[in-house]
Amino acid sequence: MDKIIVRGNGPLSGQIPIAGAKNACLALMPATLLSEEPLTLTNAPRLSDIRTMTQLLASLGAEVTALQEGKVLATSCHGEINPVADYEIVRKMRASNLVLGPLLARLGHAVVSLPGGCAIGARPMDIHIDALSALGAEIELREGYLHAKAAGGLRGAVHEMRFASVGATENFLMAASLAKGTSVLKNAAREPEIVDLAQCLRAMGAQIEGEGTSTITIQGVDRLHGATHPVVTDRIELGTYMLAPAICGGEVECLGGKIALVESFCEKLDAAGISVEETERGLKVKRKNGRIRAVDVVTEPFPGFPTDLQAQMMALLCTAEGTSVLEEKIFENRFMHAPELARMGARIEVHGGHATVHGVERLKGAPVMATDLRASVSLILAGLAAEGETVVSRVYHLDRGYERVEEKLRAVGAQIERVKDEA
Ligand code: EPZ
Repeated sequence: MDKIIVRGNGPLSGQIPIAGAKNACLALMPATLLSEEPLTLTNAPRLSDIRTMTQLLASLGAEVTALQEGKVLATSCHGEINPVADYEIVRKMRASNLVLGPLLARLGHAVVSLPGGCAIGARPMDIHIDALSALGAEIELREGYLHAKAAGGLRGAVHEMRFASVGATENFLMAASLAKGTSVLKNAAREPEIVDLAQCLRAMGAQIEGEGTSTITIQGVDRLHGATHPVVTDRIELGTYMLAPAICGGEVECLGGKIALVESFCEKLDAAGISVEETERGLKVKRKNGRIRAVDVVTEPFPGFPTDLQAQMMALLCTAEGTSVLEEKIFENRFMHAPELARMGARIEVHGGHATVHGVERLKGAPVMATDLRASVSLILAGLAAEGETVVSRVYHLDRGYERVEEKLRAVGAQIERVKDEA
């Protein structure tokens, strides 16, 4: 398992290219199951999670060919389809559950392993099950697998989700695209990744409107055709790298960034004393002047503050002037970065869904351990400005969602390197 070594090295300057969104691509790839014709995805990120989804789709009979060093994914699913998504792959990545809707729509049946919990929470599937059942699917859990069938095909329906689940919205959109009749999804998730999926499905011939709002209407069609679709910019990678100059000082331009993707996040950065300027190439970020100010953060579904940026924001607030309170309302266990930051001298008290951060002057480098994807990168961000050396172990978590993190940060002046961990 590799380690990443970071040394505090003063202000950063330069440009960081932002890749296509992991969480959009993981929903777009299963859409290939909906059509016999090829679906080509451009601006695809090169991440281990994308390789895992490629493996899963191949096990179902779909083909995914990585072109241009993985930035283009040529996918197709025109042969025999295997309806079983195996536990061995699904347990590695929860997003595997996004094949459930497309398999049901294309085949009328599917057997998809429950993903099982992960570090940040139990991650149940009840909202997915309710949403697909509303379209006429019969779904039962047997030996850890969801056995779903829709004899006679899926039928359009009006359905309101109890919570604006991103994945359940995506499964519903893909399933309803081929259902007979009209569907209306209420309390739908509004994330940019949902908008991206809807735009891709529309390019494939789906009739969808309202994406990005809480109510999405889908007019089912008989079949979908192929398309070429660009993966939307990754707003979580964007927010992550925006925090690098915020934490270290200096000025960095995040290429491809747009304020609209990170509006609530930018509001918090502004309150903390960080300026964000939209240029024709991306977002330029730097401290306004002096020390970062403490701010309170509550994570919410889009357009609220993204849970996937909570850990990274905490790294910034560890050295802010004053006390910040972060409330994590999306996942039940998403403060595992707190004790690791505390090893670096951060003063953080965690009680249930709240973390209170008392700002300190400066963190000190220490050996720390990554526990989940976003926690990993928050430790790297903290190490960028800490005094001395920080060694982050178990960085395989990081490689799931960040392409070449050490290269991108080194290019703007960070002292960071990846070493093979012989242990
Ligand atoms: C997506 O996960 C993202 N993953 C997550 O990003 C992100 O944190 C999350 O949305 C929230 O924005 C992908 O898009 C691949 P949810 P998803 O369904 O779809 C509960 C990252 O770091 N819930 O909106 O699984 C669930 O347990 C990852 O890139 C149910 O109770 O998120 C959680 O507490 C982490 N029952 C909350 O809802 C269900 O059936 C939000 O889940 C489904 C979800």
